[in-house]
Amino acid sequence: MITPIKILGFCGSLRPQSFSRAALLLALEIAEKQGASVEFFDPLVHILPLCTGAKEYPDYPAVELLKKKSTEADAFILSTPEYHGSFSGVIKNTLDLLSFDELSGKIFGAISALGGVHNSNALNDLRIVTRQVHGWMVTEQIAIPQAWKQFDAEGKLTDPKLEERLQGLVTAVVTKTNLLRVG
Ligand SMILES: Cc1cc2nc3c(=O)[nH]c(=O)nc-3n(C[C@H](O)[C@H](O)[C@H](O)COP(=O)(O)O)c2cc1C
Repeated sequence: MITPIKILGFCGSLRPQSFSRAALLLALEIAEKQGASVEFFDPLVHILPLCTGAKEYPDYPAVELLKKKSTEADAFILSTPEYHGSFSGVIKNTLDLLSFDELSGKIFGAISALGGVHNSNALNDLRIVTRQVHGWMVTEQIAIPQAWKQFDAEGKLTDPKLEERLQGLVTAVVTKTNLLRVG
């Protein structure tokens, strides 16, 4: 039997009621339904230091855990708030603590949540970063505009079009990861 692909989720917001976090949890739920093994590297639980460029962070066991989980992952879903027209420092810092060793050659999908109207700024900028580490970001993506009005009390998306787009993104990540692994 083929073992399921592993998808690791990173969130770029430290707000407990974060919409990018809600979207990521939905995405991971969809991926699990599609047969993937999923995990959320919760930044509120695993406290990461700011990247200093050091190889080791002995005071922060979360860094080792981040590297281990990332090594095991076949693919990543990055979910970020839009901050000042780009992705957040939190998501960049998470990626900066990793290297080619854990990221290269793997599939990436990206989600952004923003307070304003729809745009792809954070998503486009994440494409540049993932290309730099030799990752493969799928062409599908989702920006959730005016995120404050897109979720119900259970954290589900209320707009069927956004829900469909999220499904499309996750399907692309799962399909491409399976293809890359078999190939
Ligand atoms: C520092 C900061 C910068 C922001 N910059 C933008 C921005 O450039 N464009 C925008 O539409 N919303 C911006 N927002 C609003 C956030 O994108 C919005 O509140 C989003 O829901 C935050 O993500 P979260 O819910 O996952 O924490 C900004 C918010 C903060 C705190």
